[in-house]
Amino acid sequence: MSERETWSTRAGFILAAVGSAVGLGNIWQFPFQAASNGGAAFVVVYLAAVLCIGFPAMLAEFVVGRSTERNPIDAFRELGGNSWSVVGALGVFAAFWILSFYSVVGGWVIRYILGSAQGAYFADPGGYFGAISSGPGALALHAVFMALVVGVVALGVEDGIEMGTKLMVPAIVVLLLGLGAWVATLDGAAAGYAYYLSPDLNTLADNIGSVLPAAVGQAFFTLSLGMGAMVTYASYLGDDDSLPVDGGLIVGLNTLVGLLAGLVVIPILATQVSVEAIRETSGAGAVFISLAEAFGQLPAGRVLGVVFFGVLLLAALSSAISLLEVVVSFVTRNTGWDRKPAAGVFGLAVFLLGIPTAFSASLTYAGTGALTWYNDLAYNLLLPISVLGVLVFVGWLRDDHATEELTKGTALGRDTAGTWIWAMRTVVIVAVVVTLFLGVQDLLVAAKVLADPVVAV
Ligand code: TRP
Repeated sequence: MSERETWSTRAGFILAAVGSAVGLGNIWQFPFQAASNGGAAFVVVYLAAVLCIGFPAMLAEFVVGRSTERNPIDAFRELGGNSWSVVGALGVFAAFWILSFYSVVGGWVIRYILGSAQGAYFADPGGYFGAISSGPGALALHAVFMALVVGVVALGVEDGIEMGTKLMVPAIVVLLLGLGAWVATLDGAAAGYAYYLSPDLNTLADNIGSVLPAAVGQAFFTLSLGMGAMVTYASYLGDDDSLPVDGGLIVGLNTLVGLLAGLVVIPILATQVSVEAIRETSGAGAVFISLAEAFGQLPAGRVLGVVFFGVLLLAALSSAISLLEVVVSFVTRNTGWDRKPAAGVFGLAVFLLGIPTAFSASLTYAGTGALTWYNDLAYNLLLPISVLGVLVFVGWLRDDHATEELTKGTALGRDTAGTWIWAMRTVVIVAVVVTLFLGVQDLLVAAKVLADPVVAV
């Protein structure tokens, strides 16, 4: 068997992982979730979820990946035997599943870059979104997006993923900072900052039953947990890297980008509509309809639109790469296929799985499109179950092995690592179980199997 690939530098790994983490989750979902769930109050719950639940869970994935140097399925098999490889398999399946709709949204983003340049959506933002978000055009751009992802993954860990993310991640940060500075000059931005930065505890308290799973689900999604992405990326890592330090940097950078995206998006909305109306702004189309409307009104809207959707495309691409890499890393090891055909064939399979989403408008599930159904299933079910599997495995079954692995390349003593194990066994697992319970209830309500006990909205 040919030698296994690795990152060429530590910064390469960190940037690739940040690229995976920073994505549509940060820019397309996070600001809108914050906007509709009480602004800063949601942000506080989300930050707690990232720090107390997401971070320890990320370290657990790192430990599994680095200590085995394997893809998620083989990694869990090696450490825990055949039955535990199911946890890895769930992750690989979830990566496959998420990428299928993620790519359709990526296709919309490509369309909006072109549409911004031409001012195509300026006259009728809602109608434009309706027209381009499903149908043959959406399908074609879903194909283009997947082709880009396949191209990068086919080039390999060092020449494709590491190179690509080294270019994309700094570009995302610089462009977002630029957008943030420009937004600060807009009339009316102040109302947006005020809403985003001052907690509305009443809205939060009213919706806590759905805010909690949303915040935890968002923490998993944005940190790329529960799909083997971090297991896979850490498997290309050497023993001299400090997992807690690298993990801290990744979590920190990802969080900053999310918060920054909020500082861009919410004030832009506030310049166009009232803060009350922002609260109602949610759902898959929000970024595309409400923001597009703002770009249509603002001076230099075309340029801004191109830059904003350009950032969104880079973020989406650098995340999508990690999702396909999970699958490719498993296939190349277990079938003797080369990386290039594996990336091509599985890229095609993901494309096929995404077809219902690309025709979302004509497919309904409890009154919503296929996108919502794919997304909710991933958020409320696949991610929490998969993360729970990782936590139970690392926290209870292989805790000694994990403690030792975590301390490698660090000055940490075993007791500090022990605190992490203890946290996983208690707070983290309990929080994930609660989240899972609420999330499943949400799903059943949406599927109309249950009457509506939890969700008020
Ligand atoms: N973190 C990415 C985002 O916020 C999405 C993503 C990439 C992801 N890889 C993942 C989510 C793996 C879960 C698991 O957009």
